[in-house]
Amino acid sequence: MIVPHSSTESTPVRTVRKAVVPAAGLGTRFLPATKATPKEMLPVVDKPAIQYVVEEAAAAGLDDVLMVTGRHKRAIEDHFDNAFELEQTLAAKGDTVRLDAVRDPARLASIHHIRQGDPLGLGHAVLCARRHVGDQPFAVLLGDDLIDPRETLLSRMLDVRERHAGSVVALMEVPEEQIHLYGCAAVQPTGEDGVVRVTGLVEKPSSQQAPSRYAVIGRYVLDPAVFDVLERTEPGRGGEIQLTDALQELATGGTVHGVVFDGLRYDTGDKADYLRTVVRLACDRPDLGPEFMAWLKEFVGSLAGSGAGEEAGGRRLAA
Ligand code: UTP
Repeated sequence: MIVPHSSTESTPVRTVRKAVVPAAGLGTRFLPATKATPKEMLPVVDKPAIQYVVEEAAAAGLDDVLMVTGRHKRAIEDHFDNAFELEQTLAAKGDTVRLDAVRDPARLASIHHIRQGDPLGLGHAVLCARRHVGDQPFAVLLGDDLIDPRETLLSRMLDVRERHAGSVVALMEVPEEQIHLYGCAAVQPTGEDGVVRVTGLVEKPSSQQAPSRYAVIGRYVLDPAVFDVLERTEPGRGGEIQLTDALQELATGGTVHGVVFDGLRYDTGDKADYLRTVVRLACDRPDLGPEFMAWLKEFVGSLAGSGAGEEAGGRRLAA
């Protein structure tokens, strides 16, 4: 069963308080579903993907969340706001369970929104947060990238920032044939278990050019020094202002660490991974899991000979 990200009550007081959630991308990999609906709002069981991301930030003690949104992203703003009429109706019926579910998103943190205007790249989306963040370190959580609620990746990254200052990226080892889909890090050991020094970064390299198999995944703790670098970062791969390019400059200065993650992560902006996420998290739900798994076993059994039941896509699924 899913146990929520560790509670804020046991979270140590840290200097990082703000999280930025970029959610202004076009979501072209998920068209046509994302023509009028932001990919971050696609439901994962019964909550939009981005709610899991905000819950993760809140559980790590980040009580101020800035969403970077774009056109067609009103649904995100509405989801994290009060829904007066709906709440009145549920309250009048005495339906406290659904009333809480409707109210929860707005209670997770102090939620703010800013518009990116044009989706000029992840680096540009982060730069849009400059005024709100100020001169403090901050976390960045990509709005379509889910870390399983049982994992403690973000807390580990915040601890590394407390110990080493500078910026921290999350790294995941991926098969060589997948590295071209990610930013890739050149790393050196630090002597600390699961923590490396990042000496260089390259966005979506070919497998021949990749300095390692360490892919940068959608969690960052950034030093505010990144803003000055982003201001002068030219559009890079795909004509977009790449966060990876700005981090490459910081890495050259020796101020970037990586936390190696080998847990469960889901890219809900990818159709196949989205399906895996929904199935996995539905199985974990005490209210839905038993009935759903019984059906799933029967269904998989009916696919005899098709290869179903083997792990697909090279991604690790929990036992
Ligand atoms: P992606 O590259 O996954 O988003 O960016 P995308 O461009 O929407 O995806 P596809 O390839 O077209 O399907 C990672 C995160 O950064 C945000 C996205 O919303 C996503 O959460 N992003 C990306 C921005 O906020 N602004 C941008 O200009 C680009």
